[in-house]
Amino acid sequence: MKQAFELTVNGGHVRVETHPDTSLLHVLREELDLKGSRFGCGVGLCGACFVQLDGQVVASCDTPIWSAAGKTVVTVEGLAPGDELHPVQRAFLDEQAAQCGYCISGILVSAATLLARNPAPDEQAVVEALDRNLCRCGVQRRVVRAVLAAAEVTE
Ligand code: FES
Ligand code: FES
Repeated sequence: MKQAFELTVNGGHVRVETHPDTSLLHVLREELDLKGSRFGCGVGLCGACFVQLDGQVVASCDTPIWSAAGKTVVTVEGLAPGDELHPVQRAFLDEQAAQCGYCISGILVSAATLLARNPAPDEQAVVEALDRNLCRCGVQRRVVRAVLAAAEVTE
């Protein structure tokens, strides 16, 4: 049976009516039209759907909407303040750190979360922070370079 859930998404108050076990990813993409978070594996193993939930990186495919109720969600669409790009988004463009791009939304969320916690990570810290983000195109080297470049700007 459908229920109403309220949460904050990218700074805005949202109310959705859906089954409690509906995934947060489904709500974001299909109810709120936020298509940046991607469906990859659907079981929390690839990182394509990663978002921030109360500041922590979570797999939105594996997060039922009931457990996100009353919380604050930030998706890739909400990383940048206003019309400006977030420093990691700018650095990914500068470093051309994407190929097909399918994995990149989740990687940007993980990278931005890392920099919020640790503005000056070393390479090892970046690699560890992105450990759960898979990329089948093999752009990991460029991704790590871009995150380190973004750190230099945000430090
Ligand atoms: S689609 Fe959510 S972790 Fe893969
Ligand atoms: S750029 Fe294609 S999966 Fe990562």
